[in-house]
Amino acid sequence: MILQENPKIEIYNDNCLGINLKIDYENWVLMTSPVYTDTTMNWLLKFNRYIIWGFPYFKDLQATGWIIWDKQPDMFDRMERKEFPTGKYAEMASTTLWQGLDVYKVKWEWYERKGGSYVYDHPSEQPPEIYEIPIKEWTNENDIIFDPYMGCGSAGVAAKKCGRGFIGVEIVPKYFEIAKRRLCE
Ligand SMILES: C[S@@+](CC[C@H](N)C(=O)[O-])C[C@H]1O[C@@H](n2cnc3c(N)ncnc32)[C@H](O)[C@@H]1O
Repeated sequence: MILQENPKIEIYNDNCLGINLKIDYENWVLMTSPVYTDTTMNWLLKFNRYIIWGFPYFKDLQATGWIIWDKQPDMFDRMERKEFPTGKYAEMASTTLWQGLDVYKVKWEWYERKGGSYVYDHPSEQPPEIYEIPIKEWTNENDIIFDPYMGCGSAGVAAKKCGRGFIGVEIVPKYFEIAKRRLCE
């Protein structure tokens, strides 16, 4: 489904492991937070340029760079962590976009955004900012960002905001519909 022509925004409610899509491993920039098994992850290392959230759940011997997302624990301290499905203080990603370590201090803000109620679009929804930072810094105007495990579309929201093309795939209809709505806003 094409949502926008220029730059192109294209999303699919499908299984990324079986989808009929000509994937450009050479040129598309993979930015994703996948499901962590060898079958679902190893093919992602075929991309030239990527950020894959999830280290250290899988071994990435190609990575040249690393991101630590510091979720600003001050906020967690104000709440009962057990209420949060993904209540960790930090996450890590591996990348081939640069060499070295970057730390993103980005508040995990959906709790506040939803007015204090324990409601969320997706159990592992990420803030678009953690995609916006590297898109601005490490991708070019004509690049296409690809997220085959797009969830509710956070990487797409960031790509759109930065004027990049985006292609996303999500298998669960409910999350796909949320991504579609957010990408049409
Ligand atoms: C960790 S979540 C991604 C969250 C996303 N970054 C966000 O901010 O909303 C991974 C997503 O991959 C989806 N998924 C799992 N297996 C898939 C497959 N084979 N093809 C496409 N999507 C899949 C899950 O339904 C889930 O929404």
